[in-house]
Amino acid sequence: MPAKSSQSATAVLPRPFVTANFAITADGRISTRNLTPATFSSPRDKRRLLEIRSGCDAILVGARTLSADSMKLGIPADLRAAREKRRKAAWPLRVIVSNTGRLDARAPFFTSGLPMPVVFTTRKITTRNCTALTGLCDLYLHLAEKVNLSAALATLREDYGIKRLVCEGGGTLLRALLVADLVDELHVTLCPRIFGGTKAPTLTGIAGEFLPRSTQLRLTEMLPVGDECFTRWRVVRA
Ligand SMILES: NC(=O)c1ccc[n+]([C@@H]2O[C@H](COP(=O)([O-])OP(=O)(O)OC[C@H]3O[C@@H](n4cnc5c(N)ncnc54)[C@H](OP(=O)(O)O)[C@@H]3O)[C@@H](O)[C@H]2O)c1
Repeated sequence: MPAKSSQSATAVLPRPFVTANFAITADGRISTRNLTPATFSSPRDKRRLLEIRSGCDAILVGARTLSADSMKLGIPADLRAAREKRRKAAWPLRVIVSNTGRLDARAPFFTSGLPMPVVFTTRKITTRNCTALTGLCDLYLHLAEKVNLSAALATLREDYGIKRLVCEGGGTLLRALLVADLVDELHVTLCPRIFGGTKAPTLTGIAGEFLPRSTQLRLTEMLPVGDECFTRWRVVRA
């Protein structure tokens, strides 16, 4: 297989600082029950997302968000220029996690000419999907049923020098990062909408199981703009 094998999990290896960025409705939903693209926030919030993205070395997204939101994960020219002034690469590294490796190799994410992304997958990937992704990304294969997020972050630090990473969703991925205690900060934009229902996902996916432990947060920023409120929270570890 043309994939790189990845190191085994270890909690002691250095990893990037992990921030996350989400827009939520007033009733705490990140999408509709049909998992339609997250377009309910304002242009100001979308610009803020790009600014947070461009302040990071890498962007991490789950496979379902990639396909639901048809993301390229780029940044506009002014933010690229600002990064280059800070002696950073023009684009943050784009990183996808997919246990199945079922990714559309013809999607703009892979074909738009941006620098090559990184994909972490598992032994569930078929040879066909593996071949389709060859040459389109750096592909890391974890010999397990699920991508080991701790090992993936350590690989990003070690092989790519990533020091600061933003997770842009979705809820399933954020939940998995929280369970593994891999989240350091959270940006949440509170939006003036209410969706209701039990099937629209929350920050930690479709409401269901409790997390193994609650995550304690400290509010570090709160900025109302128009009808939205931008908040920033630091994870507090005992
Ligand atoms: N409001 C917002 O700010 C916001 C932000 C982002 C996304 N969203 C919305 O959220 C929805 C998608 O979220 P989602 O929760 O369904 O999916 P998701 O978190 O985007 O992706 C989940 C997928 O990530 C992959 N994955 C790989 N390793 C994993 C691991 N260790 N643990 C968990 N997942 C792993 C799996 O892909 P495979 O299935 O390929 O194995 C899994 O199915 C969309 O509707 C999107 O619009 C909203």
